[in-house]
Amino acid sequence: MHLFPAAVLTITLISSCAARVLNFPVNAASRSRTHFHRGQPQQRLHAPVRLRALSRQDGNRKHVRAKASTIDIELQNLNNTVYYGSINVGTPGQQLNVAFDTGSSATWIFSERCLSSPDCHMHRKYNNASSTTLKNKLVRFAFEYFTGSLSGVWVEDSISVGGLTVENQTFGLATVNDGVYENVDIDGMIGLGFLKMFGGKEPNLFDNMVGQGLLQNPVFSFYFNRKDSDDPSSRLTLGGTNPDLYTGDFTFVDLTAQNRWQFEGDWVQLNDGEVIFSKYGFQAVVESDNDMIVGPYEDVSDLNMKLGATLLSENGYLYVYEINCDSIDSLPDVEFIVDGKKLALSSKDYIVKRNGRCLSAFAGKKNSTVKRHQLWILGTPFMRGFYTQFDKGNGRIGFAKAKHLNK
Ligand SMILES: *[C@@H]1O[C@H](CO)[C@@H](O)[C@H](O)[C@H]1NC(C)=O
Ligand SMILES: *[C@@H]1O[C@H](CO)[C@@H](O)[C@H](O)[C@H]1NC(C)=O
Ligand SMILES: *[C@@H]1O[C@H](CO)[C@@H](O)[C@H](O)[C@H]1NC(C)=O
Ligand SMILES: *[C@@H]1O[C@H](CO)[C@@H](O)[C@H](O)[C@H]1NC(C)=O
Repeated sequence: MHLFPAAVLTITLISSCAARVLNFPVNAASRSRTHFHRGQPQQRLHAPVRLRALSRQDGNRKHVRAKASTIDIELQNLNNTVYYGSINVGTPGQQLNVAFDTGSSATWIFSERCLSSPDCHMHRKYNNASSTTLKNKLVRFAFEYFTGSLSGVWVEDSISVGGLTVENQTFGLATVNDGVYENVDIDGMIGLGFLKMFGGKEPNLFDNMVGQGLLQNPVFSFYFNRKDSDDPSSRLTLGGTNPDLYTGDFTFVDLTAQNRWQFEGDWVQLNDGEVIFSKYGFQAVVESDNDMIVGPYEDVSDLNMKLGATLLSENGYLYVYEINCDSIDSLPDVEFIVDGKKLALSSKDYIVKRNGRCLSAFAGKKNSTVKRHQLWILGTPFMRGFYTQFDKGNGRIGFAKAKHLNK
């Protein structure tokens, strides 16, 4: 996540976190203002019963498609910031790299018509005209992220992830890009959140995958490896978990929001038992495409002070802290107490190297008096420590200790 300005730090961070989604007709002038959709309506979780009913209907279709139990998709680790994998879009399939983001719901890729914006140059782009299964929806979209914005048109086509082909998937073809994934080999994003797309009318990709009967269980899991280690490759597992990639049991927590991967934790302490913050519980969202752990400034500041980190930069939004690289091995674990159990995060995961500097992954959000600013965002530094399963069917998240092979 690109949370602080590269100009200050000369550090590249990458963002997701859709702040706002706008949809509007391509031919806006000829339509009434009522076609302008602002934001996305809240969606309830799909009940597992309904998912099974949908899968049965699938058997009546001409093409009976096999249901997978679990499918692994190998992910590339981009300098311990974010992770991406390869998908195929259209017929015949065109291969693109995408990030998988639990913090948003929309799917979009760059269009070959994304030419004039400078931030289009290094991406592979989708040639819609050569796909026999493409349908234009004649409605434009605009997404705003913290790092920049994107706009383009909604289309429908098939998308294959790990060999599972979702048909008639609605997604955005971005023709204008201002700052999203600049200088990074990521050509689009698949949102694994809860919302529908296209003004709240069309299912997101994971819901379609389950609705079209491609997966038995509406669950997916992430394993994020450590760069330059002997770890197995990073993996997104669809339909369940991969037991080779974690150790011990899962700690499960129920979701505390209907439309987000949000849960309530108990408190956070250092491994000497000293409680750092949140004696009364904290709300956190798990975001697979966010490269920091972001929390309220006061808590983060206390924690970083105890770790010996010093303020490196502050901008309109975030406080970021630096730490002496030599101290990494002597730093304590930061323990998240969740459902009464201890999730111990090693300094190998919460210290991130960016352009030769060592940063604390704990970044503080300014103005925690605003309620929504009190929400913690647990990004990839947290998920490197904990193999995380996102269980949509049961409305819960599970954490287990991620397997790491380096010293
Ligand atoms: C990743 O790290 C390498 C080596 O330090 C550097 O050359 C490259 O620019 C980095 N890439 C990104 C996207 O930060
Ligand atoms: C899709 O293809 C059609 C036909 O070639 C073209 O007119 C249109 O501009 C394309 N749309 C995008 C977003 O690339
Ligand atoms: C996709 O759309 C086509 C044409 O509208 C239809 O025949 C097909 O059954 C749809 N596929 C799915 C999985 O809904
Ligand atoms: C924090 O946000 C509140 C509500 O938006 C505002 O009234 C207050 O002035 C802000 N405080 C600071 C220090 O920015």
